[in-house]
Amino acid sequence: MADSKSASRPLKPSTLMMGHGYDPALSEGSLKPPIFLTSTFAFENAAAGKRHFEGITGKRPGGADGLVYSRFNGPNQEILEDRLSIWDGAEDALCFSSGMTAICVLMLTYCAAGDVIIHSGPLYAATEGFVAKTLAKFGVSYIDFPAGASREELDDVIARARAQAADQGGKLAMIYLESPGNPTNALVDIEAVSAARDAALGADHACPIAIDNTFLGPLWQRPLDHGADIVVYSLTKYVGGHSDLVAGSVAGAKKWIDPVRMLRNTMGGIADPNTAWMLLRSLETVELRMSRAGENAAKVCAFLKGHPKIERLGYLGMIDDARQQDIYDRHCTGAGSTFSVFIKGGEAECFRFLDALRIAKLAVSLGGTETLASHPASMTHLSVPDPRKVSLGISDNLVRISIGIEDADDLIADFEQALDAV
Ligand SMILES: Cc1ncc(COP(=O)(O)O)c(C=O)c1O
Repeated sequence: MADSKSASRPLKPSTLMMGHGYDPALSEGSLKPPIFLTSTFAFENAAAGKRHFEGITGKRPGGADGLVYSRFNGPNQEILEDRLSIWDGAEDALCFSSGMTAICVLMLTYCAAGDVIIHSGPLYAATEGFVAKTLAKFGVSYIDFPAGASREELDDVIARARAQAADQGGKLAMIYLESPGNPTNALVDIEAVSAARDAALGADHACPIAIDNTFLGPLWQRPLDHGADIVVYSLTKYVGGHSDLVAGSVAGAKKWIDPVRMLRNTMGGIADPNTAWMLLRSLETVELRMSRAGENAAKVCAFLKGHPKIERLGYLGMIDDARQQDIYDRHCTGAGSTFSVFIKGGEAECFRFLDALRIAKLAVSLGGTETLASHPASMTHLSVPDPRKVSLGISDNLVRISIGIEDADDLIADFEQALDAV
């Protein structure tokens, strides 16, 4: 069993993905973990059963001690959670049936009536909707700030949120970030957010900074190293990586993750064993896949940049704003493979481009082995009110592209012929 602690030198995540957290000797020597299809687990004796439930219900600190019932945990999910923790340097992780389940259970854990959430903008539209519409029904309000905000702007938004919370009889419950933001790739200065939060609330606070790291994680950005407390994923994207499953996760220090586990135990929403198993297989190649996709994206963007039918690119490898470049240099180790292309013209030109693509598929989502293209203004972000679309830069001439692991020259030829059709 590859174990980071028993090794004579620290092992890299890509090595640990092959065996960490699984002992074949416990499963008939099966090299790969079996899929454990069971709804419940037999206790050794009655006292062990009592002990398990004391952990699950919070009567004894430390959570579940062993396997109990499949709404709470299972072998495939626990191996997955151990391996997810490694990538982000987290103490603990939880897997969920979708990215949105992870995000909703996380927010419900930390927010009570009267509280305020601060969030960066833009967010994935369903996340923004959950905060603005669903949490609002339970008396939770929000204040948002644009990704890229300076330390002064962050100090101001935190002061306003605390005043709003005081008016409502609540507290500042959470600072929720998405960086880069979907679909514009605008980056948030996590270090500045963390410094502003600490300056306002001191060391002893109950306001975690959570961040959706779906676009760059787990390879190109490790937000916990920059002051975030909880990292959130749609595992559906790069981690799953084959456009064949839906799942999500949260990871961080146990003190932040334990309360989320308690609510997941109550509500359900854990990933099923088959999906967890597929994610274990995906994690074995996540570094390979992301590296290749990142290299392909750099080549494709080098071709697209300067093309006469293209106005500009929203690609993290070609930032033209000093503040965004500074954030990138401090936080990111790679530019990713999801970017926006602003085509000269509007919706009609974008649709001609999309309809002419032969290799790239016309579909929402990202981070899969295959290249995908979509038109956010009329698809994923159609529900965003027009003035907000304008302020967030989600224009009618924006096409979002997620580059896969195909041959880069084949992709470039496909984009070239599709641009000819515009
Ligand atoms: C940045 C981001 N966060 C969260 C989600 C939601 O994840 P899921 O579709 O797995 O629920 C998505 C989905 O597109 C996303 O792009």
